[in-house]
Amino acid sequence: MSPQRTSTTMELLPLVCLCLLSCSGDAVRVVVEEGSDAVLPCLISTEDLEGNKFDWKKDDQKEVFMYDAGIHHNNGRPGQDEQFKGRVSHFQDQLMNGNASIKITRTKMADSGTYSCDFPRHQPRQTFNIELVVDPRIKVVVKEDSDAVLPCLISNNDISGQVFDWKKGGQDVFIHYSDGRTTQGPDFTGRVSHFQHQLQNGNASIKIRKTKMADSGIYSCIFPDLRPSQTFYIKLDVAFGAAPEPTIHRPRDTKDSSLLQCEAHGVPPLKVEWKDSDNNTLKSESTPESEKGDRSSITLNITVTKTDNYRCVATQKKISHQIFAETSVYIQGAAPEPGSNGWFTGFVVVGAVLGLVFIVLIVKKCRKGSTPVAANRQPDADDDTPMIETEPVLVLHHAG
Ligand SMILES: *[C@@H]1O[C@H](CO)[C@@H](O)[C@H](O)[C@H]1NC(C)=O
Repeated sequence: MSPQRTSTTMELLPLVCLCLLSCSGDAVRVVVEEGSDAVLPCLISTEDLEGNKFDWKKDDQKEVFMYDAGIHHNNGRPGQDEQFKGRVSHFQDQLMNGNASIKITRTKMADSGTYSCDFPRHQPRQTFNIELVVDPRIKVVVKEDSDAVLPCLISNNDISGQVFDWKKGGQDVFIHYSDGRTTQGPDFTGRVSHFQHQLQNGNASIKIRKTKMADSGIYSCIFPDLRPSQTFYIKLDVAFGAAPEPTIHRPRDTKDSSLLQCEAHGVPPLKVEWKDSDNNTLKSESTPESEKGDRSSITLNITVTKTDNYRCVATQKKISHQIFAETSVYIQGAAPEPGSNGWFTGFVVVGAVLGLVFIVLIVKKCRKGSTPVAANRQPDADDDTPMIETEPVLVLHHAG
């Protein structure tokens, strides 16, 4: 009992480490292209798994692969889900390293989902989650507001009398009926069309006009009446058109300050900042982000009092896009260099001191002049400005 417990504790350590590495998100994510092979990783410390048991399930229900002391789905164990028959294998030579990874070959779109790798005999019971994303082989990338053609070619047969159905997730995009009628899904009204003259070549492609960000996603082109029915997948990526540069206005310029106003548009959440030429972010006043459709706008005001180049930087976090506009401001009253400002202050101080000394001297003069005693006063030995003192005194004598 005691040694058993110790080994369990020791095994837990690497487990925790693996979890820290891989469980920091919700689950480990594996992305593959439709039709290629996917390795789903799962490791349980340094335990030898050869005589042990592990079990892979998809979305908590479908049996993907079970290994139990050498007996598994590829050598006679029943119970594997139809979807995975003949496509899943484990790595026999890796079992002794505690590596319970599996490989799924020729992935299908339907293989996308959350897989769990479970060690039912492990104490405490240990389960890892791995997310598999199967991406369509065909990808269409367009800029927002432009048209997208989603290709779907079934054969060289005439399909004008066939039903085909375009969906995005569970949502209807476009349906072509056997009598030639067509309908469009609610989000696509007036924006989807097929290529009538291409139907005879088996071309069921559609065109979506004026694409929006929200049109991005995985589309399926389905032929439900074919035996067997056929489905093709196409990924549409609607990229943002280049976000416009922010616009800078200067509604108010005075001698010693300038009001700068920046207007930025972009994808929410939008962040707008004023920066000086040293790349410092400056304190400014912003309007709340106002959203309209998939765009939002912000106006940012700042009053600057220094000569410099000022940049208004707009960041669209969602698409990691940053754009800026710049303006140079020259403030008359201020010198461009902070050093010159120091000199200017120096001059003011020296001037003020000189002025003060001058005033003191005048006050002294006046006092001396107005007192008769002062007139009889002998020049002091320590008086350092005798010449200036004497003159007004004489004038006062004449007046008296
Ligand atoms: C487990 O085995 C597979 C197949 O050999 C390998 O690709 C993977 O890197 C191994 N995982 C670890 C953690 O060693």
